[in-house]
Amino acid sequence: MPDSNSAATIVIFGASGDLTQRKLVPALYNLYRKNRLPETFNIVGVSRTPMTHEKFREEMRTGVEEFSKESFSARFWNRFAKHIWYVPGDAAQKDQLANVKSFLEEHENGMSANRLYYLSVAPNLYVPIIENLGALKMTTEKSNWRRIIIEKPFGTDLKSAHELNDLVHHNLDENQVYRIDHYLGKETAQNILFFRFANTIFEPVWNRNYVDNVQITVAETVDVGHRAAYYDQAGVLRDMFQNHLLQLLALVAMEPPASFNATALRNEKVKIFTAIRPVELSDTVRAQYKGYRESPGVAKESQTPTYAALKLYVDNWRWQGVPFYLRSGKAMEVKTSQIRVRFRRPPQIMFDRPRDEGFAPNTLTIFIQPDEGIHLNFEAKMPDSTRETRSVDMEFSYSNSFGECEIPEAYERLLLDALNGDPSLFTRSDEIEAMWNIIDPILKGWQTKKAPPVVTYKPGTWGPTEADELLKRDNHTWRLGYKPKS
Ligand code: BG6
Repeated sequence: MPDSNSAATIVIFGASGDLTQRKLVPALYNLYRKNRLPETFNIVGVSRTPMTHEKFREEMRTGVEEFSKESFSARFWNRFAKHIWYVPGDAAQKDQLANVKSFLEEHENGMSANRLYYLSVAPNLYVPIIENLGALKMTTEKSNWRRIIIEKPFGTDLKSAHELNDLVHHNLDENQVYRIDHYLGKETAQNILFFRFANTIFEPVWNRNYVDNVQITVAETVDVGHRAAYYDQAGVLRDMFQNHLLQLLALVAMEPPASFNATALRNEKVKIFTAIRPVELSDTVRAQYKGYRESPGVAKESQTPTYAALKLYVDNWRWQGVPFYLRSGKAMEVKTSQIRVRFRRPPQIMFDRPRDEGFAPNTLTIFIQPDEGIHLNFEAKMPDSTRETRSVDMEFSYSNSFGECEIPEAYERLLLDALNGDPSLFTRSDEIEAMWNIIDPILKGWQTKKAPPVVTYKPGTWGPTEADELLKRDNHTWRLGYKPKS
């Protein structure tokens, strides 16, 4: 359990990569500023690029200045930077990892220190690094803990995820393993469970009797950029659905856990994943934005989708028959992640209105980002009319209600939880496999003749018309709770 007084070393493998500079070190800096790191700590970056400690610190400083703009202070930085070190080396080579081990032992000064290893490396390096950590006994816990954070992608399909889990379990206990999904670290994603279970008024209507459908949209304006080579192998299902979108779905759909602890929470999520009905290929849409194939690193004939839309059903008592529509894509019109719960219409319209003038259904939209908040839309009578109504918006926004508190970056929460030994917001091995179990058959189906074609869409739009057709078949349309400004 957490022992904030024991020393800790945070070892980042792949330290010269983007993530370390943009997310990890800025998050650690903010934790330091808030006095949340252990009193004695070291951050040790490891990667193949030759670099001095000083040069590494400079690069990290640039990252913090840029990505933690508001909180940057040269005075804090100078104090923080004294804890940062760099060891060049290829951790996939046992002898080079042994150098890292000696460096750590020297810097831990014979003191007993806990260690958090962060694998921010290309996925093909997970296996050799974990094996080497095991072989060098760097994962063995004596008086101090040893934990490992593993970035996504965790496997590329069910089989490889299962094999990776086996290998991990060969070298570490499951309770030492923290598989990261940064969406779970987002404040607004964490709030879903509080919204549902710290209040009484929403849960009674949170089921098939009242909910007509649920839409989850994670749209990005960026294209694949310099990640094209990775992305072309992955595609949107592996990159976004197998993790972020399914996790959001689980938070919306899961039953209340009996208590707020990692085991209970993750058990409930696994139950949801295993209750998802195998997806019909006809309920999937895949698309590529125009120009994708011209990106450097992308195969000329690439069939990799940069956009997908799926219709899912959760086969349990609560959600039987309620469609969950999920969509995500790159190069879209606006960046927004939101969950929209659409309720059923009133059973009877007693007001004096023409038959076709139905009321707009009530909707509740959870804005994950940006404009973090929750909006509830309902009908209100137009003033000075006898029968006209308008859909109005009851709004909770983080900036209005909590303006005084900044919303922390997801990585801040997640790194702190890993240091404190709380895996609630990390993905357990069975959860990972249950999610692959949903996605894998779609990926396999897309290799067959029955697959829907890869259609194209114009960058800067809402994706292909086929995705609209998918909902139209059920008499629905994609809707945003409110369209953020682009
Ligand atoms: C990552 C994906 O997991 O999430 C990226 O690999 C994607 O392709 C990113 O851009 C989106 O995260 P966020 O926090 O910007 O919504």
